[in-house]
Amino acid sequence: MSHDVLIIGSGAAGLTAALVLAEKCRVLVLAKGALDGGSTAWAQGGIAAVLDEGDTFEDHIRDTMIAGSGLNRHETVEFVIEHAPEAIRRLADLGVPFNAEAGALHLTREGGHSHRRIVHVDDATGAAVQKALLQAAREHPNITLLPGRACIDLITGRHEQARYSGSGRVWGVYALDEASGTVEAHTARATILATGGAGRVYQFSTAPRGATGDGIAMAWRAGARVSNMEMMQFHPTCLYHLEVKNFLITEAVRGEGGRLINPRTGKRFMEFYDAERLELAPRDIVARAIDSEIKRFGLDFVHLDISHMPAGFVRSHFPNIYEKLLGLGIDMTKQPIPVVPAQHYTCGGILIDLAGRTDLPGLYAAGECTESGLHGANRLASNSLLECFVFGDAAARDILARWDSFDAPPAVRPWDESRVTDSDEEVVIKQNWTEIRRFMWNYVGIVRTDKRLERAAHRIKMLEGEVNDYYGHFRVSTDLIELRNLLQSADLIVQSARARHESRGLHYNLDYPQTDDAARDTVLTPR
Ligand code: FAD
Ligand code: SIN
Repeated sequence: MSHDVLIIGSGAAGLTAALVLAEKCRVLVLAKGALDGGSTAWAQGGIAAVLDEGDTFEDHIRDTMIAGSGLNRHETVEFVIEHAPEAIRRLADLGVPFNAEAGALHLTREGGHSHRRIVHVDDATGAAVQKALLQAAREHPNITLLPGRACIDLITGRHEQARYSGSGRVWGVYALDEASGTVEAHTARATILATGGAGRVYQFSTAPRGATGDGIAMAWRAGARVSNMEMMQFHPTCLYHLEVKNFLITEAVRGEGGRLINPRTGKRFMEFYDAERLELAPRDIVARAIDSEIKRFGLDFVHLDISHMPAGFVRSHFPNIYEKLLGLGIDMTKQPIPVVPAQHYTCGGILIDLAGRTDLPGLYAAGECTESGLHGANRLASNSLLECFVFGDAAARDILARWDSFDAPPAVRPWDESRVTDSDEEVVIKQNWTEIRRFMWNYVGIVRTDKRLERAAHRIKMLEGEVNDYYGHFRVSTDLIELRNLLQSADLIVQSARARHESRGLHYNLDYPQTDDAARDTVLTPR
């Protein structure tokens, strides 16, 4: 099947690009599982944008660079932040019902921000954004949405029917139809990866099940560079509950007065870690502080307490979290919430320029699967959805501007299943998946050492043989595709972490506690 433009991913980045492109060409959007199965629908806090008179672009830029420990690319930070108000306007035009007060958008506050600048829809901003984008995409005659397609690998020059031109040009993707089990080839003049992050490489993560780094792994295998994969963000406050494993308690709870308390001492502890910014210090600092309290006092969790605020205020600001917790027997207006840090966001990814272009001709990328230079060593809260809107738009506009230079795709070879059979040992997938997520949590988590990273690298080497052997012999399934990508992502994270001989932002290595004077990206190049 051939299309003008192929977009892999139906979250904020993919659908933003689709809506811009569809004004001029035919777009196919593929998604693994359901169309709203990515992180976008789960976003809580909101979207950062300078909209208040007392706030400035310079302040938002400075806050972003401070959180990112100077590893950010200044021109990207400027580009994104200056486009933020326009992105919010476009979303409002699509019908996203942002909270407003006295005729102006209500702005909440989150860690690392020197002003109130988070636009939101209660405490479930992502669900409202996903719904509005999907509705607009469904109504557009030039957009075809195909859920239930797990993309396996990019189609490049070497899959052409005719002789390999050696160009590395990307022509589309091989995708598993999850319902029928058949593999389809989708080709296009240009392809955009908008596949989200790799959070599920960790045992504890706030990200949805499908965040397995598929786009990053596909781009890497096709020959694109990736950058700063060691910068994995851990959100300080994920609910600690034996049955509910990955429910986020938005940073806005701290933004509106929530305090972190050591349940053993009954005292606030952030003053020992960041006396000035306390609970609203950037995420890396708060997550490390909680990790340190948990380890020092042998705790299972710490407390996040907002019960000192009026009950009506708490209920009206956090209606969804309030209801969810009440259902679990926790009344956040009266008692503290048990929380732990959990993996939350992939700051590194496929290296892109300001137009969303990757190293490979015909391949663009946008959103959490990329490293655009916005986040540096640590993402500032609520800058991520913003990046999706700005880069989804930028990639689409670049494709339209260069349309005449994109050739129609050639005939490509169909997926070859002649040497594989049905798997008889599904347990291998489950076992390896669990093993990766455990050692990544224990060895490549919030605090790292050379020895732990070496152990992780050793495990990855051992698993590579097993997973590649399995992949070479059995028909693909979504679980197998994800396992292969999870392992690839783990390898990229560990390689990057081992290459950085300093501690900066989210990468904290006890063997290199110093921060170097010059900030350098960790760029990995495929062989
Ligand atoms: P996603 O929304 O994750 O979408 C990925 C898409 O790719 C999906 O459609 C998926 O099906 C598809 N896909 C993946 N692999 C394949 C494959 N192999 N084949 C086909 N399709 C594939 N950020 C903020 O700025 N503000 C917030 O308040 C906020 N809150 C958050 C709360 C939670 C709980 C989480 C987990 C994240 C939060 N974030 C927040 C981060 C933000 O939600 C994400 O970074 C952002 O939504 C990513 O959007 P995306 O379009 O890049 O990818
Ligand atoms: C949150 O609501 O705390 C998440 C915000 C973000 O990830 O940017």
